[in-house]
Amino acid sequence: MSRYVSTKYQAKQADHDGSIEYTLKEHQMWAELYQAQISLVNRHMIKEYIDGLIHINLSSHRIPQCSEISEKLKKITGWQVKPVPALIGYDRFFTMLANKLFPAASFIRNKDDFAYVKEPDIFHEIFGHTPLLTHPIVAEFSQKIGQLGTQLATDQYAWLARLYWFTIEFGLIKNEQGKVVPMGSGLASSPTELIYAANGKEPERRPFEMMDVLTTPYRIDIKQPVYFVLESFDQLSEIASRDLISDIEAAKKMGLQEPHAILAQAC
Ligand SMILES: [Fe+2]
Repeated sequence: MSRYVSTKYQAKQADHDGSIEYTLKEHQMWAELYQAQISLVNRHMIKEYIDGLIHINLSSHRIPQCSEISEKLKKITGWQVKPVPALIGYDRFFTMLANKLFPAASFIRNKDDFAYVKEPDIFHEIFGHTPLLTHPIVAEFSQKIGQLGTQLATDQYAWLARLYWFTIEFGLIKNEQGKVVPMGSGLASSPTELIYAANGKEPERRPFEMMDVLTTPYRIDIKQPVYFVLESFDQLSEIASRDLISDIEAAKKMGLQEPHAILAQAC
């Protein structure tokens, strides 16, 4: 959810029925990303993501239309995917989530950004996000984030964004065997960061603790030096039922932690 970054990409325009025309080269980029990623996600991602991926049955060789995904998601959790420009503000983002509309940036990355694109592209949105939007707890949590976001003052947005970032975008989770595995969409859609998050010795993996999550700074343009680990999907459900506005107020009083050494170094 990198909503306020400058971008070199142009949003693709949807026609009157919401369809977007892609070039052969763009479909080819999807096919290459899909091919690179499918065996990696099968090996490393949490099982519930894989189950969702099977359920929505994405094309391996062409960019799906948001309407196709919406038809499937609507029947499962009531969610839909809507094309948006590359960058939207938090207010629109939260309002869409509150209404079970997942905003999908419509462009696809080019070769230079094959491994990771800091702006969310259609591969990240569809391949990364939509499989877990089939999961009732993730669907409910995402809507809760949206509902809460619509109640916040603008100076509170970034605090809530950190919760979304460290769970939905870059979260890790324990699987049924207790092994820590990737769950987040930013990992599912990045060939390099998925392996780094799953097996790398470098990143810190901290247990999910609300104040730690809300006060930990992150950057969107480097591999994450810190990940947070959920005990289970049930923990995500518990988080959604908390008084998150009070949590955000408490976190604001504490203030942001010093940036991780890697973040500071990269500045
Ligand atoms: Fe995302």
